[in-house]
Amino acid sequence: MSMTLRSNRSTLTQFLIEERRRFPGASGDFNALILDVALACKGIAKAVAYGELAGVMGNHAAEDGGSVNVQGETQKKLDVLSNDVFMQRTEWAGNLAGMASEEMEQPYQIPAQYPRGNYLIVFDPLDGSSNIDVNVSVGSIFSILRAPQEVIDSGRDVVEADFLQPGTRQLAAGYALYGPTTMLVLTVGDGVNGFTLDPNLGEFMLTHPKLRIPEDTQEFAINASNARFWEAPVKRYVDECLAGKTGARGKDFNMRWIASMVAEAHRILMRGGVFMYPRDTKDPAKPGRLRLLYEANPVGMIMEQAGGRASTGEVPMLGVQPTSLHQRIGFVFGSKNEVERIERYHREPVSVELTNPLFAERSLFRD
Ligand code: F6P
Repeated sequence: MSMTLRSNRSTLTQFLIEERRRFPGASGDFNALILDVALACKGIAKAVAYGELAGVMGNHAAEDGGSVNVQGETQKKLDVLSNDVFMQRTEWAGNLAGMASEEMEQPYQIPAQYPRGNYLIVFDPLDGSSNIDVNVSVGSIFSILRAPQEVIDSGRDVVEADFLQPGTRQLAAGYALYGPTTMLVLTVGDGVNGFTLDPNLGEFMLTHPKLRIPEDTQEFAINASNARFWEAPVKRYVDECLAGKTGARGKDFNMRWIASMVAEAHRILMRGGVFMYPRDTKDPAKPGRLRLLYEANPVGMIMEQAGGRASTGEVPMLGVQPTSLHQRIGFVFGSKNEVERIERYHREPVSVELTNPLFAERSLFRD
């Protein structure tokens, strides 16, 4: 098969320079930071692609510094490597005041030999890492915030409170998806654009400009093994989807679950859908599975910028005031009308049928 590679596509660098022209006073630091993040993602993509050949599969051995992260989850070798790549590629250039990662309990200070800058980055270096060993897509997620002015002025070390900014304050957010192709999906607050890594040029090329999420969908994603822990509004929504044509919705739905949120977010960005990892009663210590600052907020910003919606299930995700760096939260995102429906179900009083186990299995008695 012959393959025609179009040569007139923008590179990520070109795209960023053109975006910057909207802000004549901009220093270029922000663009430089995004390009460093993109380089980190290329490094991680390479490690993921080489897999076992590079000896990067499997768990991070205890003798190499431990095997459980701050979330109490087993760290993979690639989690640790990806975290190191992110730090090394972004710490040196003088654009960051500090950073925080899923893999580090405390904020990371920019080493003394480097200048400090105006921005904070929060990231999950390798999301969905349980998929690594089975060769299924994983990704990296990042969120860029402005450091508080007093941090910029004083150059002091960053503390947790500096990062506790609602998602509406994000300046940029994105993810890299290490799938059959490597993609970088980015928003700098002016829509969402997707770039595909050209492995020959080593450049991210603009292949998916101005992405928009369809407002309606017939596809949902949820880990159904948690069904017995779901709250009534979620049960109602899923039951109605499962009832398909014969139920309240009057149409059939399809279901998907990859267990890599980045991959699910990308599918939803490409063709619509709704993703739910709602608050549930499984573990009272965990109000949800996903992390607010480096999973829900950046993916939420991308969804909203693409015309979708991101929510806790009850209120818009991006308005939530964070209370801790590694805070977990219920997360529902995707096609706007479906997310709004789920929010509405949370507002509506729970009917007797929904709380009665006799009716919990089926939707026959609901509107
Ligand atoms: O980081 C959390 C994560 O790996 C997400 O990428 C994914 O959506 C979720 O966990 C999968 O959770 P579960 O193992 O419950 O299916």
